[in-house]
Amino acid sequence: MKVPLADLHAQYLTLKPDIDAAIQDVVSTSQFILGKAVANFERSFADAHGVKHCVGVGSGTDALHVPLWALGVGRGDAVATVPFTFIATLEAVSLLGATPLLVDIDPGTFTMDPNRLAELLRSPKGKSVKAIMPVHLYGQTAAMQEISAIAALHGIPIVEDACQAHLARYGGRYVGNFGAAAGFSFYPGKNLGAYGEAGGILTNDDALALRMRQLRDHGQVEKYKHAFWGHNYRMDGIQGAVLGVKLKMLRTWTERRREIAGRYRSGLAGAGDLAMPTEAPGCEHVYHLFVVRTKRRAALQTFLADREISTAVAYPIPLHLQEAYRHLGYGPGDFPVSERAADEVLALPMHADLSDIQVKFVIEGVRAFFGA
Ligand SMILES: Cc1ncc(COP(=O)(O)O)c(C=O)c1O
Repeated sequence: MKVPLADLHAQYLTLKPDIDAAIQDVVSTSQFILGKAVANFERSFADAHGVKHCVGVGSGTDALHVPLWALGVGRGDAVATVPFTFIATLEAVSLLGATPLLVDIDPGTFTMDPNRLAELLRSPKGKSVKAIMPVHLYGQTAAMQEISAIAALHGIPIVEDACQAHLARYGGRYVGNFGAAAGFSFYPGKNLGAYGEAGGILTNDDALALRMRQLRDHGQVEKYKHAFWGHNYRMDGIQGAVLGVKLKMLRTWTERRREIAGRYRSGLAGAGDLAMPTEAPGCEHVYHLFVVRTKRRAALQTFLADREISTAVAYPIPLHLQEAYRHLGYGPGDFPVSERAADEVLALPMHADLSDIQVKFVIEGVRAFFGA
């Protein structure tokens, strides 16, 4: 039985009439860039998270870059973030001429360790830290109570990297409510995915929202009147239309992901050295990925591939050890928790269209590997 990591075609078939009609509407009205479909989606996505504004942009990378730019992060500044994430988190900082200052993650949740953040801010290597960017990795929020308290103590704004965490909650509050702004990715394989590149920024700050709307459209304040220079970060109309249709299903899909996570947890308990993802107290994980750990990762991955069960390693090389970030001057051993995670993590198939039979097949496959 084939078990894909994600199945975008199966998802499309469940929504085909509505998706096709929404795309047709954009084509018929020629609102290819921004327009009604994007505006409607922005309103609905903000409402879903209980946030005032959503600014639709071209990708999740844009959705991290634009708020940092709008907050005034620039050359010579620093942004505190983590090495165990997708490279876009750091690129958003580097593209502004600023420097990422890295802090290690918590071994249980894979998210920013607040103690390491506090240490860094006590002695930030001569840098001026202008923002803190925790990453809600795999669909679980970082420890936002502790991180918010540290940020408030130092008067530094937070920009949440919520690219993998649509509708995730912490202490009952949705992501997007813990910082100056939060960036989301709508890359096709995300919990809420477009049919191409797209991203969105949530903020409760009216002035920041306006600034970000202008930045995404060349600093334009009126037609051909530019108060400052920005870039083209606008969302396509077709992406807004597709996202608007899919958003109506997001809660149901999220519940299904959580149910599958529950089945994996009970079905895989006690199998070899396998460690399950930790759901920290107060966190409502949305399981963009269901990531287990084992010292026998490569062998398990091959064993499952032989049974046509797809898995993935996110991420095999922490960013401080990437060629692209060699200039930061970090080396092996600097972030041991991230390095160990990079060696041990494995994502099992996770999407809302997985059948119970497929989930059982994965569980049996993993148990067979460990002889459990
Ligand atoms: C944690 C994280 N940050 C940033 C991004 C960048 O998003 P995008 O690929 O939409 O530019 C992604 C998505 O790949 C991500 O997973």
